[in-house]
Amino acid sequence: MTTEALVGTIGIRPVIPGDAAALARAYARNREHLAPWEPLRPESWFTERGQEENVARLVGERAAGRALAWVLLDDDSVVGSMTVSGIVRGPFLSGNLGYWVDGAVTGRGVATAAVAHVLAACAQEGLHRVQAGTLVHNTASQKVLRRNGFDRIGLAPRYLLIAGRWQDHVLFQRLLGAE
Ligand SMILES: CC(C)(COP(=O)(O)OP(=O)(O)OC[C@H]1O[C@@H](n2cnc3c(N)ncnc32)[C@H](O)[C@@H]1OP(=O)(O)O)[C@@H](O)C(=O)NCCC(=O)NCCS
Repeated sequence: MTTEALVGTIGIRPVIPGDAAALARAYARNREHLAPWEPLRPESWFTERGQEENVARLVGERAAGRALAWVLLDDDSVVGSMTVSGIVRGPFLSGNLGYWVDGAVTGRGVATAAVAHVLAACAQEGLHRVQAGTLVHNTASQKVLRRNGFDRIGLAPRYLLIAGRWQDHVLFQRLLGAE
C-alpha cells in the first residue's frame, strides 16, 4: 500500500494488520503524552497482541463501511493515527474523526496535514460531514480542526469518558459535500 508524504519524512497510509507491533511500540512510547486525552487503556493495549485485536477491529469496520483508519509513519515507526469511526450512511453520511501524533514530532504541522488528507478521502467516500470533539482545553487540536475548515457547533456536556472522567467536549463539524 502506498504511503503519501505529509511533512518531511512523515507519511500516511491506511492501517494494515502488519502495523500491530509498531503501533504497540508507539502507544507505549506515548503513554504519558496521550493519557490526558484518551480513554483509560488496559495494559493489553500496549502489547502487540492487543494492537492485533485493535487493528483487526478497525479493518473489519472498514470492510463494513463503518470506519476509515490510517497510520502516520516515519520510516518504519508509527508516529500517529487518524480514524474516522461510526460512519453512518443514508441521509446523514457522517463520521467521527479522532487522531493523535507522537509527542516527539508535534508542533510541525503533521496533524494539520494528516487531517487534510483524511478529509479528501472522506469526500471521495461520498461523506457529507465529519464531526470531531475536543476537550475544552485542547487548544492544539482545536487549531488543527479550525485550520482544516471545521466550525464549532457547540459544547457537549460530559460527552466522553476521557482519562476516567466524563468530560465536556467542544464539538466541531466540517461539511464536505455540495449544498
Ligand atoms: C493535538 C495533536 C494531534 C496536534 O498534533 P500536531 O502535529 O502537533 O499538530 P500541528 O502541528 O498540525 O498543529 C498544532 C498547533 O497547535 C499549537 N499548539 C500546540 N500545543 C499548544 C498549546 N498547549 N496551546 C496552544 N497551541 C498549541 C502548535 O504550536 C500548532 O500551531 P502552529 O502551527 O501555529 O504553531 C497532538 O498534540 C496530540 O496528539 N495530542 C494528544 C492527543 C490529542 O489531543 N488528540 C486529539 C484529540 S481531539
